[in-house]
Amino acid sequence: AHVWRGVLREYADRLGVTDTSTVVTLGEGGTPLIPAPALSQRTGAEVWVKFEGMNPTGSFKDRGMTVALSRAVEKGAKAVICASTGNTSASAAAYAAHAGITAAVLVPEGKIAMGKLSQAVAHGGTLIQIRGNFDDCLEIARELSDNYPVHLVNSVNPDRIEGQKTAAYEIVEQLGDAPDFHFIPVGNAGNYTAYTRGYREEAARSASTRVPRMFGFQAAGSAPIVRGEVVTAPETVATAIRIGNPASWHLALEARDATNGWFGAIEDPAILAAQKLLASEVGVFVEPASAISVAGLLDRAEAGVIPAGARVVLTVTGHGLKDPQWALRNTDGTEVAPIVVDADTREVADVLALTGAE
Ligand code: F0G
Repeated sequence: AHVWRGVLREYADRLGVTDTSTVVTLGEGGTPLIPAPALSQRTGAEVWVKFEGMNPTGSFKDRGMTVALSRAVEKGAKAVICASTGNTSASAAAYAAHAGITAAVLVPEGKIAMGKLSQAVAHGGTLIQIRGNFDDCLEIARELSDNYPVHLVNSVNPDRIEGQKTAAYEIVEQLGDAPDFHFIPVGNAGNYTAYTRGYREEAARSASTRVPRMFGFQAAGSAPIVRGEVVTAPETVATAIRIGNPASWHLALEARDATNGWFGAIEDPAILAAQKLLASEVGVFVEPASAISVAGLLDRAEAGVIPAGARVVLTVTGHGLKDPQWALRNTDGTEVAPIVVDADTREVADVLALTGAE
């Protein structure tokens, strides 16, 4: 059996890692590619889910953070900083803790999921809540890193994209080829850019491997790329992608054009319905932002864009445990009612409508 060693060591040759390189790793990458027959049946395509919630801190950010922190430590950095909607901050705090340096994280006040907030605190990050949105946080983080000895680890740092592209390498290895379509959530569009780069490198390595059509999705209330303009007050239940001015906007448009790709917008109720569907019919629990890949596929299948039998991979970016509150709500917004009975076998059997053991 092969023991996974994290993306920097697994892809050392392709990421320029040598025996003397600093490697800060928590064993990220090597995530499962899970067949989703329930989605295949619904769409007529052959659908797989790349479950990035299986990374050490529960999101795809770890793939980029191992590279960003390794390079930062190599350069002698003693402190890193990031702006975040929650996952980047959780990952930066964890990798900084492992490296023995400090992390400062700037997040929009009241707009990040509890699980992510607790991760940043648990890992000893200095968490500062900003009265503003993500875009404000990123501007401040950039200014601080320009003017003070703190190293920026947002995806505007190219090391992040370098690490995140390894997910595309894995998919080609797991499928034996690239898929026809790749669906992915979009916030800053760093990950969309990273996958496109990874797939293009794979295509350059092997003549038989194509680059998939890259389909990215934003929440309708924060869809600057789809609308073609900055959104000054972005809103969505998918707080991870509540971003009005994506940092990798231009790179993403290039990637879309190069892959015959597409950007679409999905309304919040469809995001939550997709989250429920993926959890209850595929067995994969993801946070709302991640479920937009599923909602996007259903939307495009409905539009007749996905040919029968097309091979489709959906990246689901973060674990459902990060933001579990949505799972405890019914579609109409009411709380899922708990079932409570006395410690009595017969009563439990009655609730379960079990019969036959008279
Ligand atoms: N999905 C999740 C769960 C995310 O946390 C993010 C981004 C994205 C998708 C979008 O990725 O920005 O590369 O287009 N989260 C960042 C953060 C902004 O701070 O954690 P992107």
